[in-house]
Amino acid sequence: MVSGKRHGGSKRRIVFVVGTRPEAIKLCPVILEAQRTSWAEPVVVATGQHNELLHEAMAIFGVRVDHDLAIMTEAQSLSDLTARAFERLDPCLWSLRPDIVIAQGDTTSVMVTSMCCFYRRIPFGHVEAGLRTTDICAPFPEEFNRRVSSLVADLHFAPTERAKNNLEREGVARNHIFLTGNTVIDALYLVHGQRPALPFPIEDGARLILLTAHRRESFGSPMRDLFKAVAELVRRYPRLEVVYPVHPNPAIQQAVREMLGSVERVHLCEPLPYPQLVSVMARCDLVLTDSGGLQEEAPALGKPVLVVRERTERPEAVEMGVAKLVGTNQLTIIDAVSQLLDDPEAYRAMARGVSPYGDGRASERICRTLESYFEGTLNDHSVKMLA
Ligand code: UD1
Repeated sequence: MVSGKRHGGSKRRIVFVVGTRPEAIKLCPVILEAQRTSWAEPVVVATGQHNELLHEAMAIFGVRVDHDLAIMTEAQSLSDLTARAFERLDPCLWSLRPDIVIAQGDTTSVMVTSMCCFYRRIPFGHVEAGLRTTDICAPFPEEFNRRVSSLVADLHFAPTERAKNNLEREGVARNHIFLTGNTVIDALYLVHGQRPALPFPIEDGARLILLTAHRRESFGSPMRDLFKAVAELVRRYPRLEVVYPVHPNPAIQQAVREMLGSVERVHLCEPLPYPQLVSVMARCDLVLTDSGGLQEEAPALGKPVLVVRERTERPEAVEMGVAKLVGTNQLTIIDAVSQLLDDPEAYRAMARGVSPYGDGRASERICRTLESYFEGTLNDHSVKMLA
């Protein structure tokens, strides 16, 4: 039986580690849920892999950061980032004496957190476990990061049946895997009612694309091809507008300003606060993205997603027909967008409002699992109940 049982009536200290903005969005619902329990003492550590983006996202959910390790530097290389994360996270985690450490996803912060826990023999719980493309370089370096985290995790919170199967195939014991749904749907429901104004006035009746691109493997020609496709699309469709919140990474900023900075009806902006991003998503006709989170959120709002990547670790929405993997070829992107804009039947088929990623109760399932873990009552039966 998996168990974190300890004697005594004291609260269990759960240390949540967050590094980047998406981790903040996806972990805040779990932290809020843990704060509502009587048995957990949640402590929040920010590695600070992202700086302003991370803090803004935490503030939206009203979650306070207890320890900020401020590891971000400008144009950080992966090795620098990893080294700084190890250096600052290890003593911090050790001094906090956690009963368990929880991290979400596949960033460098998560990979380092899992390894620090392994070295210090601290139990580690991995949220959004089991996503795989099977190509260690795509996405880069995230596929590597999540495989490392899975190697050392004690509790694996899988968002989908497929993720659970991936873990089982890799030899993770069934009673260490918990099918919870993805916490991003919890986050989406938490902010969806707010509906702040759009960042730009969009003409009535205009078609709108929400565009994002930030992945390291998209840098260079894939990103340039995407931007050329976008410029050509707005030229062909006079009533088409595009909102593109641009990632602060200088490598991306430069290419975007150069290629899209003066293209009419392409609205570039800073990364949007999460509720405002959700407003744009709710107003748009379709989403063009290389992001992971948007692949999960947009189908829940009934918006077709065109994924500008060669591979995705989230094939569920593609199989359901509400997302399409279009790659990074300029002409293929133009064709895929045009089809959705021109063919109402094709559009309706993808805009069904169904999501394979969860029901908004993932955080509750994760906290219930943690409680059973500490009570020493986590067994095959409760695993089945949670599924
Ligand atoms: C990171 C994650 C990626 C995740 C993404 C979400 C890694 C290796 N990458 O990618 O998995 O999908 O976050 O956004 O873990 N910057 C700022 N301010 C900020 C944030 C970033 O200026 O608030 C700039 C810095 O110059 C930094 C650069 O962006 O050097 C890149 O940030 P980094 O965390 O290394 O990679 P991301 O592309 O953000």
